[in-house]
Amino acid sequence: MTATTLPTTVNDDLRLHSDHAPAEHVIDLRSDTVTKPTPEMRAAMAEAIVGDDQYGEDPTVNALESRAAKLMGKEAAVFVPSGTMGNLTALLAHCGRGDEAIIGDESHILWYESGGPATLGGIPLFTVRTDRLGLFDLDQLEGAIRTDRPGYPRSGVVCIENTHNRCGGVVVPMAYMRTIRDLAHGRGVAVHLDGARIFNAAAYLGISPAAIAAEVDSVQFCLSKGLGAPVGSIVAGAGEFIVSVRKQRKVLGGAMRQAGVIAAAGLLALETMIDRLPEDHQRAGTLATGLAGIPGVSVDLETVHTNIVVFKVPSGLDQREVAASCKGLGLIVSDYGARGLRMVTHYEIGDGEISRAIEIVGTAIDGLASRSKRRA
Ligand SMILES: Cc1ncc(COP(=O)(O)O)c(C=O)c1O
Repeated sequence: MTATTLPTTVNDDLRLHSDHAPAEHVIDLRSDTVTKPTPEMRAAMAEAIVGDDQYGEDPTVNALESRAAKLMGKEAAVFVPSGTMGNLTALLAHCGRGDEAIIGDESHILWYESGGPATLGGIPLFTVRTDRLGLFDLDQLEGAIRTDRPGYPRSGVVCIENTHNRCGGVVVPMAYMRTIRDLAHGRGVAVHLDGARIFNAAAYLGISPAAIAAEVDSVQFCLSKGLGAPVGSIVAGAGEFIVSVRKQRKVLGGAMRQAGVIAAAGLLALETMIDRLPEDHQRAGTLATGLAGIPGVSVDLETVHTNIVVFKVPSGLDQREVAASCKGLGLIVSDYGARGLRMVTHYEIGDGEISRAIEIVGTAIDGLASRSKRRA
């Protein structure tokens, strides 16, 4: 390295050594988690007034928690490092060892977070079939809630997800949430909402997030997805319940110190990033329609409610090859296995990126289809 290329700051050093950062022209639609904090968030983080949060003395964390509780219409809220820890602390607070959590077979908690309840809580997950619109089979759910028989474990909580990630960001309707709540509460079981993207659901339904959260006992939502904050989630619920969640957070090593530095970005995310979510939804709609127009591509347009689009490549093509070819052309997508390929719109994606993404998928598919014809 010559003197002129020597890094002068930590950032220069990181830029020089980062081989993971996508090049400027790459369109990253893998997830809304890839969003970087806005310049305003970075400024708020730099200026955040902080204290030791484990003494309850970080004013920025306290402000974030009380704002979050108010937005959810709940008594209290707690800031946790991730959505996974938010869901896990909630499950640990709802269930004792050996109690079951009843959960949809397409839920994020089951597919990506099941190790936590199993290893740390001794909480088995009892699964219920989920249809393409993210709804449980209600008869199955009713049967899954245990009666008070000595041979049965206790049902600790029913978990629902809204928006529903693996079902393509579909929004589950309020009437359905009420049905679940009535069924669970009628049998003395609590309801937890994995509301990682609850603000997207609220925007789609045209109601407040509090109206959604009113149908459940506890809710987890993420600051680090469509809202663009770099880190963090919130768990909200009744005062006593949140005391228990705080204890679980400590057990998991998730209690933090001067966390106001990251809470500042979360607070700003709640103030500035919620109202713009419909833009992401509109772009996801354009993307879905564009993809559906590519011969052989199938998109379940009925499920495209928010910022997620899941699509299937034409039969005969391998979706992993399509994803790899897209990547080579400057578009990154997620492989969702049997569900297809997933794209998620977010604040860093504009109309230009959407048109280009559709074009790239078309080119990738054309190229692979011609290759397989040549081989046949
Ligand atoms: C529905 C849902 N719940 C929970 C999570 C977990 O959030 P985190 O990645 O912050 O742990 C995600 C992340 O993608 C999600 O989509």
